[in-house]
Amino acid sequence: MNASSVSSGSPPCPLPRFPAGFLWGVSTSAYQIEGAVDEDGRGRSSWDVFTGERGRIKDGSDARVATGHYHRYREDVALIKELGVGAYRFSVAWPRVMPDGGPAVNAAGLDFYDRLVDELCAAGVRPVPTLFHWDTPQAVEAAGGWLERDTARRFAAYADAVAARLGDRVDRWITLNEPAELTLLGYGLGQHAPGRRLGFEALPAAHHQLLGHGLAVQALRARGASGIGIANSHGPTWAASESAADREAAGLYDLLLNRLFAEPVLLGRYPDEELTAALLSGPVDEDLKVIGTPLDWYGINYYQPTKVGAPDPEATGSAGFAGIELPPGLPFAPREIAGYPQTDFGWPVVPAALTELLTGFRDRYGDRLPPVVITENGCSYEGVEDRERIAFLDAHLRALHDAIAAGVDVRGYFVWSLLDNFEWAEGYARRFGLVHVDYGTLARTPKSSYHWLRDALRAQR
Ligand code: BGC
Ligand code: BGC
Repeated sequence: MNASSVSSGSPPCPLPRFPAGFLWGVSTSAYQIEGAVDEDGRGRSSWDVFTGERGRIKDGSDARVATGHYHRYREDVALIKELGVGAYRFSVAWPRVMPDGGPAVNAAGLDFYDRLVDELCAAGVRPVPTLFHWDTPQAVEAAGGWLERDTARRFAAYADAVAARLGDRVDRWITLNEPAELTLLGYGLGQHAPGRRLGFEALPAAHHQLLGHGLAVQALRARGASGIGIANSHGPTWAASESAADREAAGLYDLLLNRLFAEPVLLGRYPDEELTAALLSGPVDEDLKVIGTPLDWYGINYYQPTKVGAPDPEATGSAGFAGIELPPGLPFAPREIAGYPQTDFGWPVVPAALTELLTGFRDRYGDRLPPVVITENGCSYEGVEDRERIAFLDAHLRALHDAIAAGVDVRGYFVWSLLDNFEWAEGYARRFGLVHVDYGTLARTPKSSYHWLRDALRAQR
């Protein structure tokens, strides 16, 4: 369908004006959209293995085709251009570039990203590659994956190979996407690839990803790259009550999901040295110097706040969080956030928590916080007439503007996602796109939110 053939209707009131030079963008990731898993010499990834195991993906699907972006990237770049955003955040698949995780480079794999970057540049859209969005080469996973220190070094060698090829046209880089989620869901709880259930023993995977981040920053800088950041997921943690037990539980959750990933990067140290010393081994102090290599900007993926209380001794079984089942015996328990609308995923819609998150980061980290970019924000709703997504984006952009007005230096905002796509353990059941994908025909249909955003961005010019 022609992107301009559907009228969007007008938003309730125009958005406030964002600062000059503010970077608007849309985000995707390789495994969620590309398909073509066996083409042009791509190696297997941890996710190819995981999706092949019975019962791992809720709708029994896999990502062998996904949205077919590998073959339809020109059409997708045209959609991005017509939307009027200045930037596109995508990820490079390590197993395409290094089918065995290295050192051998597969030129045909890099060729795809070369073509994509050229297409973006020709469309006047800035390419913002993420080097790693969870699709670990299976050869690396089989050797222990991110539990192994050597994976950090291999990742940096891969980063170097990508920079050597794309660096002449890229001036915004993202090393990792959400090391917290891969640690928690992939190695801690087993809901994502590689499906390990190590509980707190998963923490070395966090450390090695962070080390890989730091080594990749150094590799990119050695290639003369600029504009380097990371995409960490963050959300405010709310204590279930003012009681000491609830506040302690919330503090621990905040430490594990927010501070553990922000502070090594921003401050060059872990938030709780006793805890981390107990869980990590190796030359951690030396590593922290690498992990804290200064960044040009800091990327935040924001979806929702979390309310946490002390575990209920009466409770048996697991309380869910964001669709994820938790094992019993954790030192904190998620609580329902009532009184807000919910997305189709059941996630509460709390725009003001984005303002709270950003002002909180500024207050906590002061001048150690570089300029911030929201690298993901979005919601899952069914349908092409997606009024709820318009309301979500409108409210979150106002909340973002409030943070800027309060003095937080925010330089960009990327919607998750351009397209409906393979939503990991949820399969295709969750639709986060501004553009609808028919998984039978792979036809793209811009949703109402796409038209709304296009009009809102025009009004900013
Ligand atoms: C991830 C995306 C995912 C999105 C929605 C983020 O945590 O980076 O890959 O699709 O959340 O769940
Ligand atoms: C989704 C992930 C998301 C996570 C945390 C999971 O259910 O599959 O993509 O990152 O929830 O928000």
